[in-house]
Order: sequence, then C-alpha cells, then structure tokens
Amino acid sequence: MNPLAVKLNEKLKSKAPVIFGLLSQKGKESYFPKSGILSQSMQAKGTAINATIGIALENDQSPVHIRSLAKLINLDPKKVFPYAGCSGIPEMRKKWKSMQVEKNPALEGKSTSLPVVTAALSHGLSITSLLFLDPGDTVIIADKYWGNYNMLVKERYDVNFDMYPFYDGDGMNLQGLEDRLLNGPVGKKVVAMNFPNNPTGYTPTKLEMEKITSIVKASAELGNHILLICDDAYFGLVYEDDVDTQSVFAHVAGIHENVLAIKIDGATKEDYVWGFRVGFITYAGKDLDKNVYTMLEEKTAGGIRNSVSSAPHISQSLLLETYNHPDYVKDKQAKYKLLRSRYNEVKAVLAKNGERYSEYFKPLPYNSGYFMCVALADGLDGDAIRKVLIEKYNTGTIFISGVIRLAYSAVALDNIEQLFENLYQACKEQK
Ligand SMILES: Cc1ncc(COP(=O)(O)O)c(C=O)c1O
Repeated sequence: MNPLAVKLNEKLKSKAPVIFGLLSQKGKESYFPKSGILSQSMQAKGTAINATIGIALENDQSPVHIRSLAKLINLDPKKVFPYAGCSGIPEMRKKWKSMQVEKNPALEGKSTSLPVVTAALSHGLSITSLLFLDPGDTVIIADKYWGNYNMLVKERYDVNFDMYPFYDGDGMNLQGLEDRLLNGPVGKKVVAMNFPNNPTGYTPTKLEMEKITSIVKASAELGNHILLICDDAYFGLVYEDDVDTQSVFAHVAGIHENVLAIKIDGATKEDYVWGFRVGFITYAGKDLDKNVYTMLEEKTAGGIRNSVSSAPHISQSLLLETYNHPDYVKDKQAKYKLLRSRYNEVKAVLAKNGERYSEYFKPLPYNSGYFMCVALADGLDGDAIRKVLIEKYNTGTIFISGVIRLAYSAVALDNIEQLFENLYQACKEQK
C-alpha cells in the first residue's frame, strides 16, 4: 500500500473508525498524491517561469488553443481548455453544495463534505463502488433499478444484489427494506436507493420517507454500519403534493454515527445536459470532523485521478455560469413545467382509457421523474410487443424487468395518447 494511503488510513481510523471500516480494500488503498506531478505543479503555482504544467501555454501564458474552436465558445479560454483539477473547479463545488442545501432544506445545519466532481453519475456510482465495495459484498436494493447497475456495480465490482420487491400495492414495499436492515447478523450493510426512480418514476411519499429514515436509524441503533448510496439522478422532478421533494440523503444525513450517506447527483438530468458529464459525490455522517470529510474527498479524488483524471472543464464552467445567471431558476422552472405537463397528460389518458387498457396492461405507481411503467397482463410477451411497436406502430418503448417502461419525458404532449393507443393495439395483436 502506498505510504500516503497508510497515513491517511491511520488518521481516518482514529477519527472515524466506522467510516474507515466501511471502506473496501481499494478504498483503503486510495489516496490523493501529495508528492509527484500534481503537487509539485501546485507548489510552483504563480512562479514567473513555470515549467511544471502539463498543458501548452502561449507566450502571454494563456492556454494554447485552436482559434476556430475558441470562436465557438463564449467563455474565457482559461475556463475551457486547461484541466479542471481532479476534484473539480472549487467554485463549482461550493456552488453545488449551496444548491444542495437550497433544494434540500433538511440539510440546513447538517455537516456534509464538499461535493467532489465526477464525470457524471455513472462515474460517481463507479467510484463509490470502488471505494466501498469488495468482491462478494452485498448491496440491498429494490428490484426495479436502472439496468446499467448490473454492469456498472454488480459485474464490475463482483458484488451481489439482495433484492426485494419495489412495490407493495399502491406504494413502496418498505417491509422488504426493513427485513434486510433489521434482521440477520449485525455488520456492514450497503443500501442503494434511486429516487425519482428509473424505471418506475416513483419517489417515496412524505410518510414513506419518514419510514425509510426510521428503518435506517433503527438498523444503525442495532449496531449495523450502514452505507446508504442515494442516486439522485432525476432529483427535483416530483409532480405530486404528497411526495417528498428532498433526497433520502438529506433525511438520513447525521442520523446516527453508524451511518454514512453518499449522495450521487449531478447536472445530467437535473439540468438537461446529458452529454456534459458533470456529477458529484457528497458524503454525510454524524458529527464528523471536517478533516474526515477532507480525507473522504481525497480518497474520492484518488479514484477520479486513477480513472478519468478529471471531469470536463468546459462543462463545469458553462454550468457554473448558468447557475449564477439571473434567468437560471426561471428557465429551469419552464422545463420542469414541460415535463410535468406530460406527466399530467399520462395521468389524464390513463384516467380516460385505463379501464379499456386494463385488459392488457396496468400502470405501476408513478409520481415523478422521466418514466412510468406498465405491467402486462399474464400471457403477454413484452419483448414481442416492444418489437411490434417498432415495426408496425413506429413507436419505441423499453421492456425491462418484466414491465414496459415509457419515457414520457421524451414524448411530445400531443403524442402521449397515441403512445398508449399504440401499446394497446400491439398488445391486442399479440394476445
Ligand atoms: C438512475 C440513474 N442513475 C445514473 C444514471 C447515469 O447518469 P449519467 O448520464 O450522469 O452518468 C442514469 C442514467 O440514465 C440513471 O437513470
């Protein structure tokens, strides 16, 4: 193990033994290089003749760049072309943290780390898995999850998923979570949650959120050491009044010494910049010393350094300018309204035709996000229906985990009824 990792671990172990114990072997080995190129460059920052930097500079010390490319971008080349740094642009990290608190008032007064910038949420999930999951570990997860978790977490890190049914009737099956967190041998328990959920488009109601929080707390009180991974990819897109608008992370942050909550979020879906590749990893524990957060941030930055090295600078700069723009909130609200209007249309179409459709399919509970799912009647072959929809009805859907997922986020309002009618016809033909 690198001596820097050994030193970091000694400090972390003495200040926060529970957090240290949650780390995987790779997490223990992770460190941010304090000698070597990065730190030597840092030390030389501001020198008159600086021959450390791994980029090219013009004679006036501005970054070398292709003029025709720079003309396409309305930003200072310094904010575009150089590396952004492994943890991300410092102002961006601070801004995102303050935005997290604005969007999650439950975080007010609670301690969290500074968010570390990742190359979007997939990368955040990968780094989190690297730092906290050893081969053979088990992740407790509801059975409706983003399919890429299989490749990104389960197969990449050789872990098992202990799944419980997502739903119970019209709401969530929290008994499944409770059974796994409160029963069985006491030890390390890793839980992954994603709300608004992909594929279901479901977010816990306020009551369900309270229940989730109390289950996690009760499990911690039993002596379990809990790592709660909150994938907040679709954060903010909640369309019903009784649904909790805050992240599980905000409710669970600081709940008990035995709980480390990790928020994986970012601009991808929240700000409609899927290709920008900007996400964040943020930590929250109870009464953690600021140094503990710094150590976790260093280990995370180490994971970034040894994977993509740093997230894109241009994307961070563009987003930072946008977040500070006076029209940002208004513009974002307009897009929320667009998606909510489609959600309302889905509800209206199902209210009108749901009885007829129910011969072949029924909606699963949904209240948020980009998607909703329908469960097919017994005997229907979802994949065959999906193919008929493409071939005969010019309509694309996803068949996953035994249900059909409809991304109404991508369907024009006027086409939503037709989408369901096409599905109905395709089912009818297949029967
Ligand atoms: C639940 C969930 N988490 C994470 C991601 C990955 O997002 P990103 O594009 O930021 O890597 C997705 C993308 O579809 C998702 O649905």
